[in-house]
Amino acid sequence: MKILNFGSCNIDYVYSLDHIVEAGETEATERLDVFPGGKGLNQSIAIARAGGKVYHAGCVGFDGNMLTEVLEQSGVDVSFIKKTSEKNGHAIIQVSSDGENSIFLYPGSNHLITEDYIDSVLENFESGDIILLQNEINCLDLIVEKAYKKGMCIVLNPSPIDKNLDSVDFGHLTYIILNKIEAKAVSGCERLDLALAKIEEKYPDLKVVLTLGQKGSVFLDGQNEWRQAAFKVQAVDTTAAGDTFTGYFIAELSRGAEPQTALKTASLAAAISVSKMGAAPSIPWRDEVLEAYKTFSENSVDERADEARRKLDDYLDRNLKTAELRGLAEQLGYSAVYTGGYIKKLTGRTFSELLLDKRCTVAAKMILETDLSVGEIIAAVGYQNENFFRKAFRQKYGKNPLEYRKKGVK
Ligand code: RIB
Repeated sequence: MKILNFGSCNIDYVYSLDHIVEAGETEATERLDVFPGGKGLNQSIAIARAGGKVYHAGCVGFDGNMLTEVLEQSGVDVSFIKKTSEKNGHAIIQVSSDGENSIFLYPGSNHLITEDYIDSVLENFESGDIILLQNEINCLDLIVEKAYKKGMCIVLNPSPIDKNLDSVDFGHLTYIILNKIEAKAVSGCERLDLALAKIEEKYPDLKVVLTLGQKGSVFLDGQNEWRQAAFKVQAVDTTAAGDTFTGYFIAELSRGAEPQTALKTASLAAAISVSKMGAAPSIPWRDEVLEAYKTFSENSVDERADEARRKLDDYLDRNLKTAELRGLAEQLGYSAVYTGGYIKKLTGRTFSELLLDKRCTVAAKMILETDLSVGEIIAAVGYQNENFFRKAFRQKYGKNPLEYRKKGVK
């Protein structure tokens, strides 16, 4: 099985700044670095450094020699790359002191892909081979169509999100690797849990890998849901973290790893890339990743559990009357199904039981501290069915609300 990455190559102009410049603001930079980059190039390098054999296709400009050089030095096969007389695509990247970035792109040579060129590349590949794509080249829809006809396994990282993706048939993809913002854009749903459900409903055969930054990553294939915590790291520059993750994930899968293992290795590689400046230069080699297993720790289960408990309490406090599992799932960044199971595991109780308990506690306080009638209090905490609430209240406090008020239990 061969891996072809049909994608962009950019020259990245990276400006280090205190903070990302806002509209109307001017900030002087103290440092400019010029790095090889582009989502395509970064992902090819990640695959190769992860030990995978990858062919890169795409167009470089007259000024793009350093890009093919770094690809070759990383072990990428560059024989399908087309050299053009146009200016190479480039990216202007601001990196803030806390490692966040902001990017704009000039496509240049990356938008010189033609149908003949696509055909000349694809004729070297066959059914079952993997083709990896991002959204920084033109003719994306055509490449997907042709790769699909050949029976290739198509992996799309729909980044950056823009209208070019509208013409791409997502039903032809095998994998999609995307972040939270991209998942919302692709599905048209603002809530992440609904976004994932929508993608699953529209494309039932599509395998989805969702990256959630500090919250880790998730793999969903319709039947299974695997989660991986992020690894702790001091962020220097987050540029290409997603590309490193994608490249490593594909390389791991292609060597036969289970999705759970692929997620873990990809997460660790991405964490290492975040600790270094630049796009391509920050992508680690496999040896470094394997070595890092000994020193890097995942966000511990305890920390995640504490954070989830805090978020659960906070969510119930702020949404007592309207609380629902899906709303909490959105806050946690998980699907509703996963959240339900997770909360049960974390607390030993279901979300509904916890909500009922919280409502009883708040109602008990109101009974003692206000003059509102019991009916008003029941409505204020979110119940229409008074009998249901009274029964639950009695179970928790051993008396009904009026007795509770009369006895002035503190
Ligand atoms: O994903 C990071 C990349 O996005 C940068 O290297 C830049 O070129 C942009 O394409």
